[in-house]
Amino acid sequence: MRIAIIGAGSMGGTLARHLAKLGHQVSIANSRGRESLTALATEFGATPVAVVDAARSGEIVVIAIPTKAVADLPQGLFANVPSSVVVIDTGNYHPELRDGRIDAIDRGMLDSQWVAQQIGRPVIKAFNNIFHKSLLEKGAPSGTTGRVALSVVGDSSDAKAAVLRLVDDLGFDPVDGGDLDNSWRQQPGTPAYCRDLEAAALLRALTEADRSRIAEYRAEEEARIRRHIAAQAAKG
Ligand SMILES: NC(=O)c1ccc[n+]([C@@H]2O[C@H](COP(=O)([O-])OP(=O)(O)OC[C@H]3O[C@@H](n4cnc5c(N)ncnc54)[C@H](OP(=O)(O)O)[C@@H]3O)[C@@H](O)[C@H]2O)c1
Repeated sequence: MRIAIIGAGSMGGTLARHLAKLGHQVSIANSRGRESLTALATEFGATPVAVVDAARSGEIVVIAIPTKAVADLPQGLFANVPSSVVVIDTGNYHPELRDGRIDAIDRGMLDSQWVAQQIGRPVIKAFNNIFHKSLLEKGAPSGTTGRVALSVVGDSSDAKAAVLRLVDDLGFDPVDGGDLDNSWRQQPGTPAYCRDLEAAALLRALTEADRSRIAEYRAEEEARIRRHIAAQAAKG
């Protein structure tokens, strides 16, 4: 497939490397332009492109940039992109650590609903609840005992099916997490967030999540990341 990735950091780079290895035609973009990506893209086996060309060149377009940066994407980026093109949002809102406050999300809009609103286009939420290192290292063939599962949510069943297939190809058990209104169940800090669970446990974790705790889950996750950063710094 033609897969375009906007964002070439930990998540975008890991996906690019994996997907190119699987034989997909991968293009990749960042905020600084294609020249800045030449060496990295070659290493990934991908083609460096401008953001506007990424949006136009994929059958699947992955958005893998910080949430706050979504608002900086070019206006009308997807305006002439066919509706059959699947847009994946890998993002997580980190207000204290990275993104600053986004009022609409703080008032209750879900992370990916906000992204969809910003880009004027439905999104499928996927890959947001796996750490990039696990994505790189924990893929395994279908049927492997203990295979890690990944949940995918979104409103279009065709688009979701395409992403569920991609998850399986990448080496993870695909789990349908429902429509976008259920995407809070895999937002930061929830029981289904970055725990590398098998399919049955992931489904249980998605079910166990408590909607009234979204902000609390997020704050707990940010506190956990802060502790992790402090522990790493203490190690030197
Ligand atoms: N890292 C993980 O393990 C992980 C796991 C799950 C989900 N996520 C989520 O995935 C998203 C990306 O995270 P990351 O860790 O990959 O971030 P990252 O390593 O900081 O990389 C961010 C990338 O986004 C690009 N970017 C920033 N603003 C842009 C813009 N306006 N237009 C185009 N590209 C832009 C940056 O390009 P420049 O360098 O040129 O600015 C960079 O390549 C975040 O929402 C994060 O929460 C990350």
